[in-house]
Amino acid sequence: MDTTSEPLISLRHVGKSFKDGKVRALEDISFDVRPGEFISLVGPSGCGKTTLLRLINGLIPTDDGTVRVMGATPQPGPDLAMVFQSARLLPWLTVTGNIEFALSLRGLDRKEQSKRSMSLLGAVGLRDFAEAFPHELSGGMQQRVGLARALAVEPKVLLMDEPFAALDAMTREVLRRELLQMWSSRRMAIVFVTHDIDEAIMLSQRIVLLRPRPGRVDEIVDVDLPEPRWQNDPRTLPAFAAMRDHLWSRIHDMVRDGAELEELAGAFPKADAGETPVR
Ligand SMILES: Nc1ncnc2c1ncn2[C@@H]1O[C@H](COP(=O)(O)OP(=O)(O)O)[C@@H](O)[C@H]1O
Ligand SMILES: [Mg+2]
Repeated sequence: MDTTSEPLISLRHVGKSFKDGKVRALEDISFDVRPGEFISLVGPSGCGKTTLLRLINGLIPTDDGTVRVMGATPQPGPDLAMVFQSARLLPWLTVTGNIEFALSLRGLDRKEQSKRSMSLLGAVGLRDFAEAFPHELSGGMQQRVGLARALAVEPKVLLMDEPFAALDAMTREVLRRELLQMWSSRRMAIVFVTHDIDEAIMLSQRIVLLRPRPGRVDEIVDVDLPEPRWQNDPRTLPAFAAMRDHLWSRIHDMVRDGAELEELAGAFPKADAGETPVR
């Protein structure tokens, strides 16, 4: 019996305003996320990506339309783990302490907590830093702990809000691969927010391209590239370049359609060109 076609997350005609309706953040957003899918939300700053994640997480309610996660109104909790741009670790707890704290919220006993936290630290390559405090770690290591903590509770959905944006290019590259490896072995659904087009194509199976003011779906693109991507870097493939060109041309259309050029340029800082391997 095939139940995989049932969406895990479903958004229908979702709208959201702030400041008593003065800021229309999102308008008529509809898409589904399938179980185990890796989907990216891409678009310039202010197009409502973070707001969408908060709606999916159940942190804020919709004004219009519906969000359903596993068939119900979403509620913040261990099924929906969130990872942010900075790891937001508890500074007074060690690496292990941070992960065990998350596990204690899942109701696991001490022994199970410690077992699972060691295995996760192994998976993110930080076993030697189990007793270190967050301030003793680099930004990339802290993000690894954040990822381990999010995965510790075995969420059905991992919501990631520009998780690698603050890291240097090399660390980002390594963490992308690690994320893909963990995703392929665990197969939770991932909703990944980025404004880095190359990153979105590299990682995801589908891309929801958003346009700003108010945030709307511009296009949903299937990313049909060979798997597993951490082994076959797709960036050298013609299909990758074609998709990249297509997405950028849509973004240039957004500019032509009235968005302020400077504003969009600011939202896509480096045109991501520096990330493409130069040969
Ligand atoms: N809590 C809030 N109060 C007021 N305005 C908000 C709030 N959250 C988001 N907004 C506004 O909604 C729009 C979308 O914001 P956001 O979801 O943060 O976009 P993104 O993550 O794509 O940069 C922006 O215009 C932002 O200023
Ligand atoms: Mg944001």
